[in-house]
Formats: sequence, structure tokens, C-alpha cells
Amino acid sequence: MIPDEVIEQVQSAADIVAIIGEHVKLKKVGSVFRGPCPFHQGTNANFSVVPRGGYHCFVCHEKGSVFTFVQKRLGMNFAEAVKYVGEKSGIEVREVQRKREGPDPREPLWEIMATASAWFRTTLWESDAGAQAREYLAKRKVSRETADKFGLGYAPHEIGLMRGYLSGLGFSDERLLDVGLLVKREEQDEPRPRFRDRLIFPILDAAAHTVGFGGRLLGPGEPKYLNSSESSVFSKGRLLYNYSSARHAIRRAERVVLVEGYFDVVRMVDAGLEEVVAPMGTALTDDQADLIARSATTVFLLYDSDAPGQKASFRSADVLLSRGVTVRMVTLPEGEDPDTFVQRHGGAAMEKLLDQALDVFDRKVQLLERGGWFADLQRKRRALDRLMPTIRATTDPITRDLYLARTAQAAGIERDVLVRELELLPRRARGRPAPPAPAPSLRPGGIAPRHSPELIVQVEHAPESSAERELLRVMILHPDLVDKVIEDVARVETDDTVETEEALEPVTGPTPVVRDPVYATIFAELSSGGDLSIEALAERLGPLENSVVEELRSEPGAVVDPARSISDAIRMLKARALRERIDEHAGMLRLAGEDEKNALLRKTEALRKELAAVGGRDWRSVRRLNT
Ligand code: UTP
Ligand code: MN
Repeated sequence: MIPDEVIEQVQSAADIVAIIGEHVKLKKVGSVFRGPCPFHQGTNANFSVVPRGGYHCFVCHEKGSVFTFVQKRLGMNFAEAVKYVGEKSGIEVREVQRKREGPDPREPLWEIMATASAWFRTTLWESDAGAQAREYLAKRKVSRETADKFGLGYAPHEIGLMRGYLSGLGFSDERLLDVGLLVKREEQDEPRPRFRDRLIFPILDAAAHTVGFGGRLLGPGEPKYLNSSESSVFSKGRLLYNYSSARHAIRRAERVVLVEGYFDVVRMVDAGLEEVVAPMGTALTDDQADLIARSATTVFLLYDSDAPGQKASFRSADVLLSRGVTVRMVTLPEGEDPDTFVQRHGGAAMEKLLDQALDVFDRKVQLLERGGWFADLQRKRRALDRLMPTIRATTDPITRDLYLARTAQAAGIERDVLVRELELLPRRARGRPAPPAPAPSLRPGGIAPRHSPELIVQVEHAPESSAERELLRVMILHPDLVDKVIEDVARVETDDTVETEEALEPVTGPTPVVRDPVYATIFAELSSGGDLSIEALAERLGPLENSVVEELRSEPGAVVDPARSISDAIRMLKARALRERIDEHAGMLRLAGEDEKNALLRKTEALRKELAAVGGRDWRSVRRLNT
């Protein structure tokens, strides 16, 4: 047996015109290809082949897909035809055993989920407990018909109902715990349902097995949505909400519309736009992008209009571009999400927005242009640092070329210069760089932070984070020196005021001197002018920050010469800021025209001198000496 998704993959990759063209002489007529029908041995061009579609003879009425053609003309069975077409389309087709060792081990878990799903649905529509949820749906203008299309249900507040029902059908607690429908906490005698008093959205996998649930609170509270926990059937990062229902519409429309939320999907489908899917509250993963890229060539990103939505769009776009799909970005009016927009303006207005969607890269450039990011060399440099990763991520060569040309034009920089930039290692974006996380030992409760290898290297090689730590230690042990530290830190800051971007809108402000997020929180509290006694501080800080404060207080090697500690730490932080500016100037220099070069070189020289004066080294020139 060949898995369905492989068949789909082959079908979408296949060039039907080329494959049939090996057997029939085809000529382009408008958007289709015509030739003599090989089935009734016709001589006129009555046989028509539609690119990305099928074939059809107007005389003998033979019709079918690329697979049917190959089966009939070459006498193959279906599996052979898929392999044949796969080979021509560069997709490896392997058959899998239909039966492994008996049935799929996930079968019983799917069964539980389907049974629970049906029970939630019944509870929604037929029980007194469901009344509030029914009102909620009515208030959100979701009809019974639409709700049923998505199998919506309701998980009641009562603790024992679902468990009682499912155990009556023979489903053991153990199984219910496995799939995360029940949760058992140490201090409780009995397991309790994970979902209580929530509207339930069943989540199906690509083969339409019910594998998990998303539950929305009917009122205010946190978390607003709760998803099933990860299990052997539910893996949030590999699933897309509504994918199994949307896949045929996606094929037909040759596009996917990606939205952020459950209700967005429901509303869009309700309005007749069926090719809609959503990740479930997380950034788009590689697996999800693969799933999308397998079924469509164009993705429309339809995220919330706010800054986080825009950020998430651009992040998803890079993942999708790396899969070779075309990405277009829809811009919703301020304050709307797809759900509210369609409710207010209707499906036709939404179609119009989709029509107007810009290619994601054009949109990014447009936002940068509007923000004045190409006005001078420094901002151009930063704009390029935003655009380069996207160009690098883009795998389709034609698209990549277009993006390069667009960037060259917007920034007024030679294409060749950009090509060289592309080949350089990505510079770390400046402004508010992602700070290294504190050392693992700082995390309470033995929860190991998930460092990327890169971050671990940074922690080891970043004496600056120990400088940040040292400053905090002085502040905590010598409250009388707090003002002095704040003053000195402010001086490092004002020397280096930069513009950064918040979802491509420029924000002007100092680059933070204390960057580690935990240290930064403590530093902000210490600088807030409030009571600095340990007890008062402890009240205002979270558990993580408090455990760091405790460490700083109790670590041996108390501060011997606090003034010296401060000046050492400040020098180190100052050196970091200077190195970053030198680095940025080197990046600007690569873009500079002849007239700008001298000024830049002078500035760089001045920065180098400043760096030497604080006893720092310019890693860049050190590196150059070594190579
Ligand atoms: P939003 O907060 O944008 O909510 O979350 P929404 O979709 O507009 O929801 P309504 O209209 O207020 O009901 C978008 C998606 O992020 C996930 C859910 O999948 C949600 O649909 N999410 C959100 C969570 O997983 N947990 C949360 O607490 C919030
Ligand atoms: Mn919403």
C-alpha cells in the first residue's frame, strides 16, 4: 500500500502535460493542451489536458487523472502508476505493509477520543449543563449546523460525568490518563478531567482520527484555550487544525489560508472559504510547513492585525519560504482577526482582502519603507539585517532573485553587493539581541532550560553576563551604591541609543545594558526607587528572580572592593557595546558608497580607540590577524 500523502505528493508534483505529452502530441491552446485522442485513435485535437488537472476527450469521453492515463495507456496497476509518475516527478514512492503486526496500536486511543468527542457533543446539545455553552455559541453567531461540521462539544464542570460514562463503556482510567482526558495530581485521590467547563474543539489528524481537543473557557480566565497534552496520538507541532477537512478544498483552490485560531477557522469555513487551517497556539513548525507545502503551492497568511500577529506571520513565512511555497500576506484592518472581520464584513469582503494580499516579502519591504528604514546607511544596514534571513530562507531560485532585485531597488544598493552579503554568515541582529539565558544552575526546581547549542557557547564566551551579575551583586550587598551603579549604567546606555523595530515599526531607545532577562528584571526592581530591603524585594520578584537574588547573597567571595567591582563590570559592558558598534560599522562599510566610506572609517577608528581605552579588544581585528 502507498500512503495517501505520498500519492497526493506525487500527484501535485507531477507534470501531467509532460507525462501525457510523451504519448500524445500536445499543443497549447489557451490555458490547456490539446491533441489527438489516444483512446479512440482520433485525428482531430479533441483530447484536452489541463495542467495540474486531468485529461478529457470530448469525443469518446475518456477522462481521468495522470494516474488513470498511465494505468490505461501503459497497462499498469494503480501502485505501479504512482511509482512511474513519482519517478518522473522526482518523488520516491515506497509501498508500506498494509498490516504490520496486526492493527495500529493507536487504534484504541483513537476510539477513546472519538467516543469522548461524541459525548462532549451530546453534552453540549442535550444536557442542562450545556445550556451556557449553547448560549455562548449563539452569542458568537455559530449555528448548530456549523458547530456540527466541526463536531464542537462541551466539557461540563462536574468532575465525574465523563469518567463515569466512559468507564461504563469499558474504557479504563489508565487509558483515559494516557490520552490526557483525565489528569491525576499527587494530592488528589481521584483523577479529574483535564477539560472542565470549556467549549470543545475536536482536533483530527490528517487521516481524520480524533486525536486531541482544544477547550475554550466560556468566560474570562486563564488559560483561555487549553489543548490536549502531548501523547502517542497527539502532537501539536505536527498537526494543523481542520487539515483533514480542508485538504480537498486546498487541492481544488491550490492554496492554503493559514489563520491563528480555532474560531477563525470556523468562521472562514462558515463563510465558504474551506481551504483554511490553523496551528494551535504555537509558531509554525517545520512539520506543519511540510504538510502545507505538500498540498499547495501558495499560502495566504491571515494573522491578527496586531504586532505579535505580524511578527508571527513573518516568522511563519520564513519557514514556508524554505519549503519553496509562495507566501502572501493578508493585512486585516486594525483590531480585527479573521473571525471578527468575516462576521462584520462577510465572506466576499474577505475574498477581496485575499485578492489584495501582497507577497510577504513585498509587504516586509513596504513596512520598512514606510518606517523610513532605508533613509540612511545605519538604518539601511538594519533593514538589510531584517531582509537577509528571509532571502536566505527562500529556496525557490526565481523567487529568491525577485527578492534580491526588490531589496536592491528599495535600498538603492547594487545587487552584487547584496549577493555578497547573502554569502556571509548571518550577522546577529543588533538592537535588542536575544540575551543568553542564565547558567542552568540558576533555574530552580531542577528544570533544565532548553539552550540551543549556540546559547551555551555564548554563555561560556560571554564574560559580560558575569559583569551583569557582578553589578547586581554589588547592588544587593551594598544598597548605598545602587545610585552610583544606575548612573554608570545609564552612561553606557546613552552612549549607544539605537532604533530597533517592533514588528518593523521603528522604536527608539537605548540598547539595554543588562540583557539577561532574569538579571534585567532584578535590575529594574533595584532601580525602581522602591524599598530595597531583601524582604521587600522578595515580595516584588518572582520565584526565579528570588532564587538568583538568594544565590548572589549567599555565594562566597563577597565583594572586596565594591567600587572596583563596579568599574570593572561597567568597562566590560561598555566594551561589549563598543564592539557591537564597530561590528555594525563594518557591516555598513560593505554597503557604503565612496563618499560615505571615509566618514565611516574615521568613525570606526574612533570607536576602536574608545574600545582600547576601556581595555577591550576588537574581536574582529583579532580574528583578522589570526587568519
Ligand atoms: P487568540 O488569543 O488570538 O484567540 O489565540 P482567538 O482565536 O481570537 O480566540 P477567541 O476568538 O478569543 O475565542 C489564537 C489561538 O492560539 C491558541 C488557540 O489555538 C487559539 O485559537 N491559544 C490561545 C492557546 O492555545 N492558548 C491560549 O491560552 C490562547
Ligand atoms: Mn478571535
